[in-house]
Amino acid sequence: MKKQINLFLVGTGLVGKALLKSIKINPTVQSENRSITIKVAGIANRSNMLLGKRGIDPVKWKSELNNNGGQTNIKSFIELMKRMKLPNSIFVDCTDGNDIVTLYNTILKTTPIVTPNKSANAGSYKQYNVLKDIVRKNGTDFRYSANVGVGVPSLDVIKSILSGGDKIVAIEGLFSSTMNYLLDKLMTTNKKFSDLLKEAEQKGLTEPDPRNDLNGIDTARKILILVRDSGVKLELSDVKIENLVPVILRNIKSLDRFYESLKIYDKKFDELKKEALRKNCKLVYSANYRKNSASVKIEMVDTSHPFYFSSSKEKVVLFYTKFYKKHPLIIKGQSGGAKATAAVLVSDILKTIK
Ligand SMILES: NC(=O)c1ccc[n+]([C@@H]2O[C@H](COP(=O)([O-])OP(=O)(O)OC[C@H]3O[C@@H](n4cnc5c(N)ncnc54)[C@H](OP(=O)(O)O)[C@@H]3O)[C@@H](O)[C@H]2O)c1
Repeated sequence: MKKQINLFLVGTGLVGKALLKSIKINPTVQSENRSITIKVAGIANRSNMLLGKRGIDPVKWKSELNNNGGQTNIKSFIELMKRMKLPNSIFVDCTDGNDIVTLYNTILKTTPIVTPNKSANAGSYKQYNVLKDIVRKNGTDFRYSANVGVGVPSLDVIKSILSGGDKIVAIEGLFSSTMNYLLDKLMTTNKKFSDLLKEAEQKGLTEPDPRNDLNGIDTARKILILVRDSGVKLELSDVKIENLVPVILRNIKSLDRFYESLKIYDKKFDELKKEALRKNCKLVYSANYRKNSASVKIEMVDTSHPFYFSSSKEKVVLFYTKFYKKHPLIIKGQSGGAKATAAVLVSDILKTIK
């Protein structure tokens, strides 16, 4: 059976580009006994937008968008998408903020959404539920596997656990590639924490401002989404976060000055390392949920803990359930990146075709 998907993509940054590249390489995908072709029917970024029934070439999209596109107005983009009434239309939000998320309610009334953007699911619990209700009432779809631990299909595992009648009791996870890298290097080299952070930034391993890795918010949003999908009502403000940016360094504008000032705290990390080595433990920055309480913090784990043997390049999630009581269900795999995120998006896109 042959099917065609019509994709409306907003966001042409790292992930959006990787998705277009993947469509360019593999425009037709064999899924079960179906041959599904993905056509790009609309593209937008902050500057330009372009929609067309005949499709946009995923190779020459940039020149087509710049030469034939108009100034971006996302509300019009959505209106035009709806008016085109193309079969199997899917809206893909590859933006990084909240702007598009505020329009999900409208989009989901007619069109499925696939996104790596965590903003909708990590906003208020009320809004998280509103989206689920809209999908239920209108028979559309909302897929966000790339929200948590790309490459580690944790949200699919939750669905599978729940559909088998089991109940999730606790979740533990290592979600931050940057923190995995920093703590691993701290334990295995003689380098100071502030130097390692600067090194990681220079290698492009951190967010442009590495304080956004140290503040734990992204990790907190990930555990929040897992917990909510497990059926628990929780707000981001309920997650106790150990922010590794010292309070007095949070408002420093210049990054160089931040690194200089962070040196005062190297001693704290050296002491933590010493204690961990003495106890034959490893340091991890983990996210945890148990008994209605969630946290993100530095932890010392010994050889009895599954985190001890994970590589710093891996994302790890442990699920404790009524069935997996003593020995958790463990999923782990190599950390993501834009290419891996695009692969997860394609998988979600294909799943929206009923
Ligand atoms: N990068 C990863 O490896 C990764 C992994 C997992 C999840 N994610 C998530 O995926 C999303 C995209 O990440 P990214 O790394 O691709 O971000 P990015 O490189 O910063 O790209 C963001 C894109 O969104 C566009 N955009 C932002 N606000 C917009 C608006 N209001 N209207 C139209 N376009 C808008 C930007 O337009 P301009 O180009 O015009 O600025 C840009 O093209 C984020 O939510 C991120 O958290 C990323």
